[in-house]
Amino acid sequence: MSIDPFLRIYMVKGTRFAPPFELNKPLDGGCIGEVIKSKSSQFKVGDYVKANFGWREYWISNDAQIEEKSISKVDPTLAPLSSFLGLLGITGMTAYVGLFKICSLHERHDTVFVSSAAGGVGSVACQLAKIKGCYVVGSCGSDAKVNWLVNELGMDHAFNYRKIGFDNITEELNRAYPNGIDIYFDNVGGKHLEAAFNNMNTFGRIALCGTTSQYNSEDMTYSSKEDQQRSRSASLGPANLSLAVSHRLKLQGFIWSDHFDILGEFNTNMSNGLGMAKYN
Ligand SMILES: NC(=O)c1ccc[n+]([C@@H]2O[C@H](COP(=O)([O-])OP(=O)(O)OC[C@H]3O[C@@H](n4cnc5c(N)ncnc54)[C@H](OP(=O)(O)O)[C@@H]3O)[C@@H](O)[C@H]2O)c1
Repeated sequence: MSIDPFLRIYMVKGTRFAPPFELNKPLDGGCIGEVIKSKSSQFKVGDYVKANFGWREYWISNDAQIEEKSISKVDPTLAPLSSFLGLLGITGMTAYVGLFKICSLHERHDTVFVSSAAGGVGSVACQLAKIKGCYVVGSCGSDAKVNWLVNELGMDHAFNYRKIGFDNITEELNRAYPNGIDIYFDNVGGKHLEAAFNNMNTFGRIALCGTTSQYNSEDMTYSSKEDQQRSRSASLGPANLSLAVSHRLKLQGFIWSDHFDILGEFNTNMSNGLGMAKYN
């Protein structure tokens, strides 16, 4: 069975910002629901709402939760309801926050590198940067994904890190960015981050979004012991952190849910066409 890499952490020990899953309790995660009874002045029967109260069929909420804004209304006329759990939900918000808030992306100027570029967050980050007229390169783990990124999403370049090998990512980036990288949207950490350091421009910005390469102690997708060992060592690092000093890089880890202050801006920009603009 395949599992979201980050969910593995919740299965084992949780994080400092969220506790582990509990036995015999509903799994956590975003949900969309329809209001079927209401005494609230803010929500009426038939409204659709988004909340993070576990995957379940029914939920009774109270004023305190509404007060702390952990429940928000969604507008089903803007997009299909499922979009509010993807492009207009955590996935989209994470990409948006990382690019625009953490890295202050400069339209039609910045060169942008995205790892896990064909994943949920990565593919949105790639498309947003492209819509803003940036040069965008993505890293992913198969030729089919490379093909999708370049020929369907319109990225300037993509490469298969499994095929070229972790030790050659620096070289690949060097070729792809003759003038250096301004923004690195990091979903994986490890060797990708190390290779990005080697190619960042002075005053470059790095959004530390995830460390997928470190979530699993063993990557079962590698068949031989040798490949597994290579995968493990690829998760270590970066060993060249000193470049962050000499290149005056800005690195910032972030969690999407700390940025509800821009929720209104995000909803407006993402649903008014930002996600649908033509960039080829
Ligand atoms: N900071 C936040 O607020 C926030 C919010 C949501 C998600 N995240 C993080 O953002 C990252 C992406 O999330 P997502 O939901 O978009 O994930 P996703 O769609 O499940 O993508 C994960 C991808 O990571 C790649 N991968 C797996 N092992 C790897 C390795 N050893 N080295 C490099 N790549 C590897 C795989 O793609 P390939 O086959 O192409 O390698 C996999 O499909 C995760 O780290 C997640 O924890 C952060």
